[in-house]
Amino acid sequence: MSKFLITGGAGFIGGNFCHYMVNQYPKDSFVCLDALTYAGNLETLQPIMDKSNFKFVKEDICNREKIFELFEQERFDYVINFAAESHVDRSIENPGVFIQTNVIGTQTLMDACRKYGIVRYHQVSTDEVYGDLPLDKPQEFFTETTPLHTSSPYSASKASADLLVLAYHRTFGLPITISRCSNNYGPYQFPEKLIPLIIKKALADEPLPIYGTGANVRDWLHVYDHCTAIDLIVRKGKDGEVYNIGGHNERTNLQVVKTILNYLNKPETLISYVKDRAGHDLRYAIDPTKLVTELGWKPKYNFETGIGSTIQWNIDNQDWLEHIISGEYLRFMSAYYK
Ligand SMILES: NC(=O)c1ccc[n+]([C@@H]2O[C@H](COP(=O)([O-])OP(=O)(O)OC[C@H]3O[C@@H](n4cnc5c(N)ncnc54)[C@H](O)[C@@H]3O)[C@@H](O)[C@H]2O)c1
Repeated sequence: MSKFLITGGAGFIGGNFCHYMVNQYPKDSFVCLDALTYAGNLETLQPIMDKSNFKFVKEDICNREKIFELFEQERFDYVINFAAESHVDRSIENPGVFIQTNVIGTQTLMDACRKYGIVRYHQVSTDEVYGDLPLDKPQEFFTETTPLHTSSPYSASKASADLLVLAYHRTFGLPITISRCSNNYGPYQFPEKLIPLIIKKALADEPLPIYGTGANVRDWLHVYDHCTAIDLIVRKGKDGEVYNIGGHNERTNLQVVKTILNYLNKPETLISYVKDRAGHDLRYAIDPTKLVTELGWKPKYNFETGIGSTIQWNIDNQDWLEHIISGEYLRFMSAYYK
């Protein structure tokens, strides 16, 4: 029986991870800690809130005193850090909060791990720390030894955190692993990100904003496969190692949008090209060989199977989406805490 701290668990990937772990490992116990920023949503955790092996704590990972108190009380075996500011566009608007949460928050958690002792600290990172690849060299992929070369304040803050995690391993002997995953999609994704945004707008027959010409390539992974990979890395990964996670599902943004329109039977005339994002990365493509050969990971979904169920989830869960968008979510929160 192990005790896990999962930070950022009211967000998209952390929320899916909480669902997966709580159901998969009923004998282990899980504390989900989240500051409930605009991206955190307690409704995401509603299906597991009453499980006896699950507990939610509202807290900021940068609040040193409270974090240390929690570690003192709970004595975690595993700490998995999903908590982050995660939206590139927001990092261009306001980089400061990205440095605070993504770097200082990571340091605070690791300091607590050093003081109270843990089996493993796992940092959930991103392939964006590698920068981008050219569009005309499809044979090139990010491997774990690709140099860090960031483009946005978001990716720079994530790369800074990764370097700090590696430094805590080398200097203090903290047992750590890091995973760097490609773009995720799936249930409970906040509707400011590409796929849920396009689904929401297409369903409402609104114009679909596409940066530049839509030629930028992303490597899409279903969030379920990200969760199984992290579970494997945390339990079986080698101490001090970095693992890339990806399923070789490269698509241009335009291809993604057209796939969604096709599924929903909506016209391509909805597509509206907008001014490109500053510093927009061209192509991401992950080589997951290390994870596959060393740990035996296998994804369950490819893009075709995953996108259909994701579109359907968004159609079937309009309430969840409306509550976030309408401010109903704020009412839910205050009612919940009462
Ligand atoms: N979304 C992707 O495609 C993707 C891909 C690779 C890696 N990642 C990484 O995975 C992690 C989770 O991403 P996501 O898409 O689920 O993000 P998200 O924005 O949906 O969720 C982040 C969660 O962290 C919480 N949070 C933010 N600041 C906090 C703080 N100071 N203290 C405590 N909680 C705080 C938010 O309330 C939210 O619930 C991030 O570290 C991100 O860098 C994301």
